[in-house]
Amino acid sequence: MDGRLKGKIAIITGTGGAMGQQAALRFAAEGAKVVGCDYNAEKGEETVRKVLAAGGEMISLHPLDLGYEDGARTLLDAAIGAYGGVDILYNNAAMAWFDWVPDMSFKAFDDTMREEVDIIFHLTKLCWPHLIRSGRGSIINIASGAALMALPEQGAIAHCAAKGAVVSMSRQYAAEGGVHNIRCNSISPGVIASAQTAVFMKDPAWTEKLVAKRMIKRIGDPAEVVNAALFLASDEASYVTGANLCVDGGSTAM
Ligand SMILES: NC(=O)c1ccc[n+]([C@@H]2O[C@H](COP(=O)([O-])OP(=O)(O)OC[C@H]3O[C@@H](n4cnc5c(N)ncnc54)[C@H](O)[C@@H]3O)[C@@H](O)[C@H]2O)c1
Repeated sequence: MDGRLKGKIAIITGTGGAMGQQAALRFAAEGAKVVGCDYNAEKGEETVRKVLAAGGEMISLHPLDLGYEDGARTLLDAAIGAYGGVDILYNNAAMAWFDWVPDMSFKAFDDTMREEVDIIFHLTKLCWPHLIRSGRGSIINIASGAALMALPEQGAIAHCAAKGAVVSMSRQYAAEGGVHNIRCNSISPGVIASAQTAVFMKDPAWTEKLVAKRMIKRIGDPAEVVNAALFLASDEASYVTGANLCVDGGSTAM
């Protein structure tokens, strides 16, 4: 397919989820060869079906647990085996555990760090030599508004710690990658409709309070985050690196 990512090989993690599925569809429609994964086999498969039905190119491993080094290695091997390289690494998959400080268990904190920080470190480290070889590597890490502000209405100590790390890791990847023409940027979405936020949005009072804190008075759509990622992945962003782009209806600016 022709498009803004024509011929590029893009690893996108968590392609069974809300933003991951949109990303796979959009990147493939823009000409990327997509390598996806998810530990939800059914949702992972659904995404591949949709991409292929739309005429795009994609392979995917599901179920695959990316939380450990061997999962990351298996995904990279699949990408190299199928397409021979990596130009774009889109670290989207994550999972967090929420609880107030006295109730947050040591295990839940560790699990959140593994699922939001280690998951990026492992795959990025393994992809690094391939991104160097690409000569035009782009890494996109999905952080969160939780990296930039406290969430007083939610027990989010682990999530805030982890997503803060994603923003600072992204800057460091950008600094170390510059000489290799590897760009790295993070995106900090606000509250976006997905399986993870559906639980909270069942409470109309929670949603109403949240929406009031935005310049644009609604929850975001996964496609609005993917629009930003597409720009950062493409050559249109050739001089954009080390940035954290907020896609949050203005909530962090209020
Ligand atoms: N939805 C929001 O409001 C919001 C806000 C800010 C940031 N984010 C971030 O956006 C990204 C995408 O989230 P989403 O809203 O699409 O959520 P989602 O739950 O719909 O998608 C995440 C996907 O990642 C997969 N995944 C998680 N851990 C995995 C692992 N170890 N191995 C393989 N697959 C794994 C899940 O199975 C899921 O399909 C995440 O990094 C999330 O933290 C979301």
